[in-house]
Amino acid sequence: MAEARTLAGEALAAALRDSRERTRAWTFDLDDAQWRVPQQAGVNLVAWELAHVAWFAEFWILRGPHALDSAGRVRAAQPARLAGPDALFDSARLAHIARWAAPLPSRDELGARLDAQLDACLEALAKQDDSDEALYFHRLALFHEDMHGEAFAWLRATLGYGPPAGLAPPRLAAAAPAISVPGAQVRIGWPPARSGFAFDNELQDHPVELAGFEIDAAPLTAGQYLRFVESGGYDDPAFWPGEAGRWRATQPRSHPARWRRQPQWQVRWFGRWLPLDPEQPAMHLSAWEAEAYARWAGRRLPTADEWEHAAASQPAFSWGHSVWEWTASTFQPYPGFAAGPYRDYSAPWFGDHRELRGGAFATHERLHDLRYRNFFQPDRCDVFAGFRTAAP
Ligand SMILES: [Fe+2]
Repeated sequence: MAEARTLAGEALAAALRDSRERTRAWTFDLDDAQWRVPQQAGVNLVAWELAHVAWFAEFWILRGPHALDSAGRVRAAQPARLAGPDALFDSARLAHIARWAAPLPSRDELGARLDAQLDACLEALAKQDDSDEALYFHRLALFHEDMHGEAFAWLRATLGYGPPAGLAPPRLAAAAPAISVPGAQVRIGWPPARSGFAFDNELQDHPVELAGFEIDAAPLTAGQYLRFVESGGYDDPAFWPGEAGRWRATQPRSHPARWRRQPQWQVRWFGRWLPLDPEQPAMHLSAWEAEAYARWAGRRLPTADEWEHAAASQPAFSWGHSVWEWTASTFQPYPGFAAGPYRDYSAPWFGDHRELRGGAFATHERLHDLRYRNFFQPDRCDVFAGFRTAAP
């Protein structure tokens, strides 16, 4: 699905239906007790998150035009009709912890809301022309729902629920030699000639001078990471300087959070412990763990620019469908950045989050794009993140 960003007409409608089917399939099979997610970072109550997905699509597609109020918040001209009020379901308005005290719709009510919202949005889509401007919010709602679909998968992994239907464990391509990438002046970001939907943080494209570097052909395997663990790497402070060391001090273990030794190494896959498969990607690692490995191996993480250039220019560079990849880059705006209509998508997180590239096995194919910039706080190991290394 190379052209997800230019989806239009019936293909876009089909994608919206497909995303909704996945959303439902990955949540409605869980029982009521599983829907009552305990309050913790990185996950949401299932009912809140489902209601938020419907709210988001209605807010942007059906309730325009939008304008900023005096507090700098985006307001919709039309009132909420189908999917609930802004005060409850706008993630920027209701704090994460407050969601556990919010009055949430029942499962039946949610099902009805999701159907009514999707029908109304598809009806609105059918009246649009195929211009990028007319389709902007329809595509935004699609990719937003795809992202929440992945969040439902990591919720299930975090809480030890069963894997979502049809989701197979990631596998990596056979080991390949590292790639030498010559130094070059390159352009990073969304090419001006490319049509379709661009996230605000992918704009503007700009020149970057890259020195030559070497980069792994694929993300690191669990077998490679195991050598670092077994060498005692978690307990050598040399590999955990500064903030990494402060994070390490909060972790009462000498191996990744979802590994255990019984006495053979096992890895938690959703609700089960499975024997460590050395050919699977190393996953559920924080950026600090990725960097500790790289120091131990005498290497480093690639910058996001290096990653993008290698993905764009090197046929042997294998990415996507396994793990998100931590980079060495703090998530920052490109020169000339201007926030998109959904102002809270990128701007609040610049300078604080770490950039990841690629795409995980649970990331919908539509989101796989070599320009796509993901971002998480570097201490998160609940998301489907691993890494590859670079040198020098
Ligand atoms: Fe959201």
